[in-house]
Amino acid sequence: MSTLFRFVSIFLLIGFTSCLNTKIDRMAKKATSPVQLLDSPSGQLQLIFELKSGVPTYRLNKGPEFVILSSDLGVVLEDEDLSKNFEIIGYGKRDSSSTWTQPWGEVKEIVDNHQELAVYLKHDSGKRMNVIFRLYDTGLGIRYEWPDQEAMNEFVIMEEKTEFVLADDHDSWWLQAYIPNRYEHLNIASKASEIDTAATPLTMKTDNGLYLSFHEAALTDYSSMSLINRGENKLQATLFPWMDGTGHKVRAKTPFVSPWRTIKVNEDLDGLVNNYIELNLNEPSKIEDTSWIEPGKYVGIWWDMHLNRKTWHSGDKHGATTEYTKEWIDFAAKHGFNGVLVEGWNETWDGDWTKNADQFSFTESYPDYDLEEVVDYAQSKGTNIIMHNETSTGIENYESQIDDAFDYYQQLGINTIKSGYVGDMIANGQWHHGQYMVRHYRKVVEKAAEHGIMLDVHEPIKDTGIRRTWPNMMTREGARGQEYNAWSGDGGNPPNYVPTILFTRMLSGPFDYTPGVLDLLLKDNEEGRPKNRVHSTLAGELAVYVVIYSPLHMAADLIHNYENYPIPFQFIKDVPTDWEYTKVLAGEIGKHVTVVRKDRNSDDWYLGAVTDENAREYVVDLSFLDDGKEYEAIIYSDGPAADYEVRPLLLIKYGQIVNSVSTLKINMARGGGMAVRFKARN
Ligand code: NOJ
Repeated sequence: MSTLFRFVSIFLLIGFTSCLNTKIDRMAKKATSPVQLLDSPSGQLQLIFELKSGVPTYRLNKGPEFVILSSDLGVVLEDEDLSKNFEIIGYGKRDSSSTWTQPWGEVKEIVDNHQELAVYLKHDSGKRMNVIFRLYDTGLGIRYEWPDQEAMNEFVIMEEKTEFVLADDHDSWWLQAYIPNRYEHLNIASKASEIDTAATPLTMKTDNGLYLSFHEAALTDYSSMSLINRGENKLQATLFPWMDGTGHKVRAKTPFVSPWRTIKVNEDLDGLVNNYIELNLNEPSKIEDTSWIEPGKYVGIWWDMHLNRKTWHSGDKHGATTEYTKEWIDFAAKHGFNGVLVEGWNETWDGDWTKNADQFSFTESYPDYDLEEVVDYAQSKGTNIIMHNETSTGIENYESQIDDAFDYYQQLGINTIKSGYVGDMIANGQWHHGQYMVRHYRKVVEKAAEHGIMLDVHEPIKDTGIRRTWPNMMTREGARGQEYNAWSGDGGNPPNYVPTILFTRMLSGPFDYTPGVLDLLLKDNEEGRPKNRVHSTLAGELAVYVVIYSPLHMAADLIHNYENYPIPFQFIKDVPTDWEYTKVLAGEIGKHVTVVRKDRNSDDWYLGAVTDENAREYVVDLSFLDDGKEYEAIIYSDGPAADYEVRPLLLIKYGQIVNSVSTLKINMARGGGMAVRFKARN
């Protein structure tokens, strides 16, 4: 077999097997011109690859606008510098156009139209590396491939050299990487030049009004990428190391591929939020029958602990008792919730549970909690128990029990696990986001899939679109959730938090924020934390169900608060968690946003609007509604004197008949919002 033919076959195997409807240009061009151009399907973006004195580089333009200036590519291995001294031995190009259906999601159908360029490189050491570009009208994916070859078998990546050279010092919204508490921080808004090392997704806005987001897709067996500021508008990929003194970033064996490095490029915020290139860059579902995977809403024994009314550990205030769980099951069954989360059910929460990494049992209940009894009771009432697996980052302990535990849960008919990885470093010293943990998180997803279990992961690795391949990977945390309102030293999430994260953290995927706290002033907080509360209004808190997408959304508050606030509770019961379409009608990053989403299982639409600490009023047109249909708009709005600081509980509910030519006034108090159900009438 000629060497060139071997490259092409390898490329076809790795890169093409998953794509149907694909027109493949099978002949890799022998051409070795140092420059190759690629246009996106409708010509909106242009990619220029160039080998400059042996260094692979790329540029990205949007018509006359430079998006990414000449940026280097490559990696440094333990024994070789694969970022220079290359020659080109061929190119391959193809285009692909398809549409696929999400089993659940924020939209039903996703279009995948892209052009692909494969650049086959040979290093002067004889090692081969391919760079694959996938160019969409709204973004670019770049991946490295190391084909099976004699010159490379096992290898170690010490540094990744991928650069993103910005055309200007753009406005940026970012999170600092490599600090305690992982992704659980407020976004920093600054110029790109002020970035230190940013976690991804990292969002930017250019002076010409283009929105950019930098992230990665299909993080499967690699270290996760952050972006380090190298000065002069240059960001460079940086990877979490293995923590054993070797400085290794990635341990690999050919054939091997990196995750995709992604750049989204959109002209408006609706496009940015509806940009699905990262899902497209993941492999199709490996779960054939997805009928058991069901989005829904849950309640449970959770907020009690964060307010210090109950404890995870045993004793007088133990939350996870059979009796209290049954109360929640009755409540869930009465109001149509799919699950009841019970935290603190298993042995070893006593003492400082964050230090119990090597002790947690995932099958043994506390004596006052009869797991089998509550599971039977829940199932007899048409709901289910959501299993909680806090690991405190004791990975070895968890992995040693996981088969038995998941077998047991499956036998019981439990279909959802909320897992947790509290701790700044993994118990054996690894980073939360290095290759060791990427492997662990993926292993759990695969094991859960084998056992018919959906996952909600707290303290997760960031989402890189793997829910396409593993649609049981439902939702995750990876940001400051509602719990910060209960106990964070800074008093909780400020009003501009949700209007920011829709355009930052949420670009990576679903977030288990756990909304629905109606006792905004946290009268139930037994810890005496006067600054802590939900920094919103009732209407604003309801709107979060629509603004923040999660296929599993919690109604986080306590039973008596839902009983005391039946009007807003009705919206929480009504709002779905599986959508056909999503649209951003208005918004400005960090200031306000109005989102509408269409229910996948009815003709109803829902609207959520939230604002920062400024009151806002604007009119949106309802042309998204189906033509010729009438809808009853059930509107939950801030009362005229509402204000998140002084009168957050003033809520008015009113109805209006509307259709696709109507308009709606969005009227939001300081720190408030609006939530609407458009109930189809015909
Ligand atoms: C942190 C999680 O975010 C929270 O939801 C959970 O209650 C605690 N860990 C305990 O596992």
